[in-house]
Amino acid sequence: MEWYLVLLVVVFLLVVLQKWWTGRFGYCKSQADMRGKTVIITGANTGIGKATALELARRHARVILACRNRNKAEATRDDIIKITGNTSVLVKEVDLSSLASVRTFAQDIYKEEPQLDVLINNAGTTGPAKRTLTEEGLELTFAANHFGHFLLTNLLLDLLKKSSPSRIVNVASMAHLWGKVDFDNLSGEKWYHEGRAYCDSKLMNILFTRELSNRLVGTGVTVNALHPGTVQSELFRSAPWFIKVLFHRILKPYLKTPYQGAQCSIYCAVSEDMARVSGQYVCDCRIQDPAKHGMDEGTAKKLWEVSERLTGLAS
Ligand SMILES: NC(=O)c1ccc[n+]([C@@H]2O[C@H](COP(=O)([O-])OP(=O)(O)OC[C@H]3O[C@@H](n4cnc5c(N)ncnc54)[C@H](OP(=O)(O)O)[C@@H]3O)[C@@H](O)[C@H]2O)c1
Repeated sequence: MEWYLVLLVVVFLLVVLQKWWTGRFGYCKSQADMRGKTVIITGANTGIGKATALELARRHARVILACRNRNKAEATRDDIIKITGNTSVLVKEVDLSSLASVRTFAQDIYKEEPQLDVLINNAGTTGPAKRTLTEEGLELTFAANHFGHFLLTNLLLDLLKKSSPSRIVNVASMAHLWGKVDFDNLSGEKWYHEGRAYCDSKLMNILFTRELSNRLVGTGVTVNALHPGTVQSELFRSAPWFIKVLFHRILKPYLKTPYQGAQCSIYCAVSEDMARVSGQYVCDCRIQDPAKHGMDEGTAKKLWEVSERLTGLAS
């Protein structure tokens, strides 16, 4: 066969594959209006968090952008207000990797917000190439992706319970498949790899969801974890150049846009289907089983106890 015919066939097959793959993406079909509801979204200044905030503002929610960089967050707030016309979009500063910052943020929320209907724990980082400890001595990836959200959620639980029915949404990842909770290496003291730390932290999100759901039975507060899909975002900003080329160039047509990546978060936050569902793992707006080690009740319980101790919730 002539080379140009081979090329044509390859291009044709790639286009068919792309159409088939992107056609499988799940969308939130609920039209639920969020008027009168207050939502907090962490890491809402860009990527999936920003797209989620935009959609919830479009549905008339009061949206609190919980971000670490005030300038970026204010620019996002202005964008969202301009697009949706909803002026109830606020910025509140919080650095999830700092337990002190999380505590100050939660105190401000209690002072200023009479209700909280949805908490979306979305902020996440792939972590630095070199092991980094936070001011409180925690490994940075675990601190930002797990411990900060663990503390934040626990501190806001009374408000969520008071506002019930209310929902907590934890943005995890299918990267949990490759994760492991090594209780002897929680600050990377024995060894550290940024990719492993990310996967482990995303497994923690799923185990945290499981244990929290058990503890919330009968309160009217639900909690679910999700995988948003592989999404064009800034997540790989500190990754090596070849990872960036792979995700931002070669695989781009096969990845979700932030709008598509936000669908699962929106579904868990607003859909009538999810009103009484708790402790589940959702992908493409469908409930699925996480990996077997994401359903281990013993590890989930132990992680809870260790997290309580390391975040200062229990002595
Ligand atoms: N993109 C994907 O393919 C993918 C796949 C599976 C799961 N996820 C998950 O989806 C979530 C959102 O990620 P994304 O893809 O939208 O990435 P992104 O574009 O990099 O957004 C991450 C957000 O988290 C914020 N953040 C990071 N560390 C923080 C900290 N210590 N305190 C407060 N905010 C912090 C970032 O703030 P700054 O802008 O100030 O850094 C940013 O707003 C993450 O939990 C990620 O693990 C993403």
